[in-house]
Amino acid sequence: MATNRGQFNSRLGFVLAAAGSAVGLGNIWKFPFEVGAGGGAAFVVIYLAFCFLLCFPVMISEIAIGRKTQLNAVGAFKKLGHHNWAWIGLLGILAGVFILSFYNVVAGWAFGYFLQMVQGNFEIGENFGSYISEWESIGLYGLVFMGVTALIVSKGIQGGIEKAAKILMPTLFAMIIGLMIYAFTLENAMAGIEYYLVPDFSEITGEVIYSALGQAFFSLSLGMGALITYGSYVSRKQDIVRSAAMITLTDVSVAFLAGLMIFPLVAFLNSGDMSSVSGGPGLIFATLPGVFEGLGPTLGIVIGAAFFLLLSFAALTSTVSLLEVPVAYLVDEKKIKRPVAVWGMATLIFLLGIPSLLGNGAVEQLTSFMTLYRDGQEQMISFMDFVELIASDTFLPLGGTVIAIFTAYIWKKHNLNAELMEGRETDSQWMMKYINFAVMFFCPLILGAITIITILERFFGIQVF
Ligand code: PFF
Repeated sequence: MATNRGQFNSRLGFVLAAAGSAVGLGNIWKFPFEVGAGGGAAFVVIYLAFCFLLCFPVMISEIAIGRKTQLNAVGAFKKLGHHNWAWIGLLGILAGVFILSFYNVVAGWAFGYFLQMVQGNFEIGENFGSYISEWESIGLYGLVFMGVTALIVSKGIQGGIEKAAKILMPTLFAMIIGLMIYAFTLENAMAGIEYYLVPDFSEITGEVIYSALGQAFFSLSLGMGALITYGSYVSRKQDIVRSAAMITLTDVSVAFLAGLMIFPLVAFLNSGDMSSVSGGPGLIFATLPGVFEGLGPTLGIVIGAAFFLLLSFAALTSTVSLLEVPVAYLVDEKKIKRPVAVWGMATLIFLLGIPSLLGNGAVEQLTSFMTLYRDGQEQMISFMDFVELIASDTFLPLGGTVIAIFTAYIWKKHNLNAELMEGRETDSQWMMKYINFAVMFFCPLILGAITIITILERFFGIQVF
């Protein structure tokens, strides 16, 4: 066993680091805009069902595979299966590299907005489109962000990742609650809450289902080996099922609370008219500065700056885990020294993010990059949308399907159960039974089917339903 790989110091350390990976731009930036694009509460209901019924068992499998093998995503599949299975890990690493390449650009927006708020520039919301086309400044913020990420990852597990998560996560939680309470006090807040919580099931289309699944995987950091990697640093004394439940609940709660914070703000800004809310990447960036402005110059600056700082913090604990996946691979499998792997990978991924950076208005060919299909309609998307759709809505659910199949039929159910029993703090059976059922039948079938249909509909315009 590779004892010098590092280990989380405590259960809390692991849960906070994994929850830190899960909680990120996905919860505060992406979740609300997906809810807006998916028609409100109906999306929320489907998303929650996916998180608990389909994603939770995949999360448990990932952590168990990681802890059993004490290896990175590629090494773990090789060890439990055979060399032939290394591709699942490689697919995951590829997905992680691509996700981090655009994620870092959005983290640059968040950090840039923080600096704008500090200066009291509330007009930035109206100028969101032109702001993100300024590739020089966003690129610089992205560079800073990647640098800080690399610095934390280079310090290893306990000194870097665990320490950062222990400080950042509780701060984040406190800030969200504070902003949510404030949002509730605003005029028309109820209209926003209603939009968010009262489902209209006629809004559900294939597209809503595919996006909800992709979002569930993205938000829980699943399907690409991040939790295999983090699982490899977990002690055998920890209860994996309980830890996974805590991670899932934390992530879902933060997304849920972020919605409760944002939709009342949006309703306040739109004077209670939610019919025009369409979601999209600009949702929080375009609307919130105007809300903060309404608070008056001093309070507006304080709350606005706090919000975007919070978003940057949330992004940081996620970028750390995204970078750790390829780094652990290079350190374990290719025997590259940690600092070299960290800085080399960070540089490569930053460079891979440049087309995403330029595809928000700076370069026309990357801004209108290609057409694909949504609910049968052709739609022009940018390079960044394309990477996001490929990596998060396609590779992650595909990875989840394959991980479930691998766990149940290659590694085998009894090995999974034996691993889960180590450190298990309760002997209640129903949860184990559900996990077995989900990994063997439910996840491969449902996840597999939705993933295939998503690919057919989105990329080939073949309407299955
Ligand atoms: N879960 C992160 C978020 O919601 O922002 C994004 C992410 C992090 C995805 C790590 C995948 C991953 F491995």
